[in-house]
Amino acid sequence: MTEMILDIRNLKVSIPTDRGMLNAVRGVDLQIAKGETLCLVGESGCGKSLTATSIMGLLPRYAKVTSDRFEMAGQDLTTKTDAKLAKLRGRDVAMIFQDPTSALNPTLTIGRQLTEGVMRHEKLSRKEADARAIEMLDRVGIANPAARLTQYPHGFSGGQRQRIMIASALMGRPRLLIADEPTTALDVTIQAQILTLLGELQADLGLSLLLITHDLGVVAAIANDVAVMYAGRIAEHAPAVDLFATPRHPYTKGLLAAIPVPGVTPRGSELPAIPGRVPGLIGTMQGCAFRDRCAIAGPECAHDPVPRISAGQGQFVECVKAAEVVA
Ligand SMILES: Nc1ncnc2c1ncn2[C@@H]1O[C@H](COP(=O)(O)OP(=O)(O)OP(=O)(O)O)[C@@H](O)[C@H]1O
Ligand SMILES: [Mg+2]
Repeated sequence: MTEMILDIRNLKVSIPTDRGMLNAVRGVDLQIAKGETLCLVGESGCGKSLTATSIMGLLPRYAKVTSDRFEMAGQDLTTKTDAKLAKLRGRDVAMIFQDPTSALNPTLTIGRQLTEGVMRHEKLSRKEADARAIEMLDRVGIANPAARLTQYPHGFSGGQRQRIMIASALMGRPRLLIADEPTTALDVTIQAQILTLLGELQADLGLSLLLITHDLGVVAAIANDVAVMYAGRIAEHAPAVDLFATPRHPYTKGLLAAIPVPGVTPRGSELPAIPGRVPGLIGTMQGCAFRDRCAIAGPECAHDPVPRISAGQGQFVECVKAAEVVA
């Protein structure tokens, strides 16, 4: 059996707002196997970041989180106390964020920022921690790493800062790395370099990677599996090759139709965008959340619950008309 690094069932995240309860994550199932990459895709406001943040245990206190299962590296986290949770998460999972400029503290040296965590959590000496920081900076492609420990973030370019953030995430030798839109703040050429780096690190270190991205080109290049998120749920979960060849959810199909395919899409042609917008997530919903935007929706799409059709091991689609989409 494949070893799962992350196994989450029926994850729900709700946030009280002055307009009512915002049910941003509405029963998400996610599984990531050891050493594999799961890409989480979907339009803005679908709940991707909140899902990631809840895996990290970094949601604000007022957020309400429940799940039927929450296992990381074989450990059941639903039964652990806050302190134990923090420790486990610090050890097994690390996260890199969208904007490298705001994630680094401008007033502290790179060395200090990289080593603080491991000196505290693993009780490493200054010397040991520095050695690990140098190793990690070297791994992420920062030249002359020993000399750079004493420098401050402003001395680095955006791309270098994101490399440093990745080094920082690797310091605790995590088994799962979560990257939430790690390249959107960077130039296109640098984006490609950072993604290549993530792919290499994953292969070298046997890391599992949860990559949140809008970019389906990136997904095609590095994902083993893809989870397509829509309005707080996973609409479709499939191996990447399968998803690109045979999308089973109309939303997936719409997302794929909106990206150019090299060699197939004529240059300069206009690609069909999905009409309408992601629905607001306040309060309850009935039936399929996508049906207002769906070209093939019928009356049965308003019924609850939306059927989940299994299409292989861990592969599923939540659409009553999936067979029609495939045909
Ligand atoms: N702390 C918060 N308080 C109130 N609402 C929030 C909070 N965090 C997120 N939300 C709302 O929850 C919904 C889902 O947010 P989330 O950040 O998870 O979306 P996302 O899929 O990551 O979108 P994007 O692609 O734009 O990053 C959005 O409507 C967002 O405005
Ligand atoms: Mg987000």
